[in-house]
Amino acid sequence: MTPSALKRSALVICCAVAAATGCGGESEPPMHSVSADASSYANVSAFVTTHLTLDLTANFEQETLAGTAELTVDRRDPAATELVLDTRDLTIQNAEAAMATGDWVPTSFTLDAATPAFGSALRIVMPPGADRVRVTYATSPAARGLQWLSPSQTAGREQPFLFTQAQAIQARSFIPLQDLPGVRITYDATIRTPKALVAVMAAEMTPGGEGTGVFTFKMPQPIPSYLIALAIGDLAFTPMGTRTGVWAEPSMVEAAAREFEDTEQMIAATEGLYGPYRWGRYDLLVLPPSFPFGGMENPRLTFATPTVIAGDKSLVSLVAHELAHSWSGNLVTNATWPDFWLNEGFTTYLERRIIEAVYGKARADMEAMIGVSDLEDSRSTIEIAQDKTLLPDMTGRDPDDAYSTVPYEQGALFLAFLEAKFGRDTFDAFLRLWFDTHAFRGATTDDFLTFLRTELMDQSPGVVTEAQVQEWLHTEGIPSFAVLPQSDAFVKVEQARDAFVTGGSAQTLAQASRAWSTHEWMHFVDALPRDLSLDHMRALDDQVGFTKSTNSEIAHVWFRLAIAANYAAADSEMEAYMIRIGRRKLILPLYRDLAATPAGKIRAATIFAKARDGYHPMAVTSVADIVR
Ligand code: BES
Ligand code: ZN
Repeated sequence: MTPSALKRSALVICCAVAAATGCGGESEPPMHSVSADASSYANVSAFVTTHLTLDLTANFEQETLAGTAELTVDRRDPAATELVLDTRDLTIQNAEAAMATGDWVPTSFTLDAATPAFGSALRIVMPPGADRVRVTYATSPAARGLQWLSPSQTAGREQPFLFTQAQAIQARSFIPLQDLPGVRITYDATIRTPKALVAVMAAEMTPGGEGTGVFTFKMPQPIPSYLIALAIGDLAFTPMGTRTGVWAEPSMVEAAAREFEDTEQMIAATEGLYGPYRWGRYDLLVLPPSFPFGGMENPRLTFATPTVIAGDKSLVSLVAHELAHSWSGNLVTNATWPDFWLNEGFTTYLERRIIEAVYGKARADMEAMIGVSDLEDSRSTIEIAQDKTLLPDMTGRDPDDAYSTVPYEQGALFLAFLEAKFGRDTFDAFLRLWFDTHAFRGATTDDFLTFLRTELMDQSPGVVTEAQVQEWLHTEGIPSFAVLPQSDAFVKVEQARDAFVTGGSAQTLAQASRAWSTHEWMHFVDALPRDLSLDHMRALDDQVGFTKSTNSEIAHVWFRLAIAANYAAADSEMEAYMIRIGRRKLILPLYRDLAATPAGKIRAATIFAKARDGYHPMAVTSVADIVR
């Protein structure tokens, strides 16, 4: 069966006993419905994985992970004879099957031809009664979910580095498994590395591995496959509090711990709003700059780009964001990838609430306004109409192809609208109940709508209409009745901009901007006319030093302006930035802006040729799409 044939067929499969007692009675383990996802080949109506045991060896010369993945499955169709797993570019050596207590016996398997979007279905023959399989396999150096870095691509320049990125459907490129967010598994893992390196996973780490080349981990809470994560490198740890700390290359770890020192305060604030943090520790791992995302909410261990270490905590909303996923995403998970806005929209809303609690409303409002402008900008680059809405059609597509700011910012605006209509206290209680009642489960958009109707809309009829809710989900723009963020600070920035653009002196601007934060500078640059004169550009650069800014976000908005205004003095710094940094949000708009003119497109291709080897496979795909 093709993944699309399974599309959005929510398969509600409860055993007879559990069904009679309400699916999860006391004597039976809870057996929840599993939503099939169009991007997975897994036959979840027959088998649902409950546990994974990994034993993998990292080979940095060959750039492979090799070893075994053992899956424990819950049989949901007694007559089923075949287990279908997702894989991509894996070499499968061997498959074995076993009953709970029995011995392993070889079993046969076939690997389907790969499709570009989803990889290859691995079909394993399941003998009657078998409920475990063990697959011996190796990854390919081209695995989309792995980036192997040479020592020269690290800060220390002496040791190689490996990191995984499983979201959305890359786990299958390093583990054969049921790779869909509707299936939750616990896992344990043994990772074998060169002795000089340290392995970390987004899981409980057994202490004492350092120097031995063998590391063991355990994830006792059931998680979707996209949250499995591993990194190996010359890593050091610095604690920030009793349950928080930072992993990074030794030369980075102290600066990172200072930058992120408010993390415990953020956790406490979130717990106050939405209930206890349920994952034990919360640590951060700072990756080399080729990490293709700002952050990734791997449980217990957020993966983060070093580009947010600005020295002044101005970009730590990234931590608030990834931390917030511990509720919206990791605890209550989008049941299928088209429900992605349930992860990211909720998380962006929570992120702003955390920033407000820890740094105040003015900063949260500025960040929300920058979000709205990012939303409009991102939406204007989207070619498929439905991708401009909260519910993109992902049939036949890698979810990454539909990735944009829309689920983040349109989703956050939807929740901010509900907050404004029902009142903050009511809405906070509502969200907390949502997390509590759906903890460790998948949720669909329909689940959320049902919950919204029964818990809020029916309680206060007429406050929000069904038509408004539908417009939030399906419109290709911001609804006219949205409650948009406002910022007095930005009004002042715009006044300073107007004065400067209409001939005001650099001194006047210096006066006005003395107390500006990163966000005010970002808005200032973003709000400048795209055809600003070269004299103005030079004057600004001389005064503020934009071209050499060490703040990755300020440099980003400045380089975009420099491209539009043909300000060649920024060329070489911009090129160095695009080669050094692999974070897609920072580089893709620059490639896109360049590619808008024939000459710029040639330049973009030249830069890409130099940068390509240092980019993550996902970044390579995205940039190649633009410069092609
Ligand atoms: N979960 C995402 C990253 C992601 C999304 C990876 C989809 C792969 C597929 C993460 O939480 C995220 O949104 N990161 C943002 C950070 C931000 C909005 C502060 C990023 O990387 O830019
Ligand atoms: Zn996110």
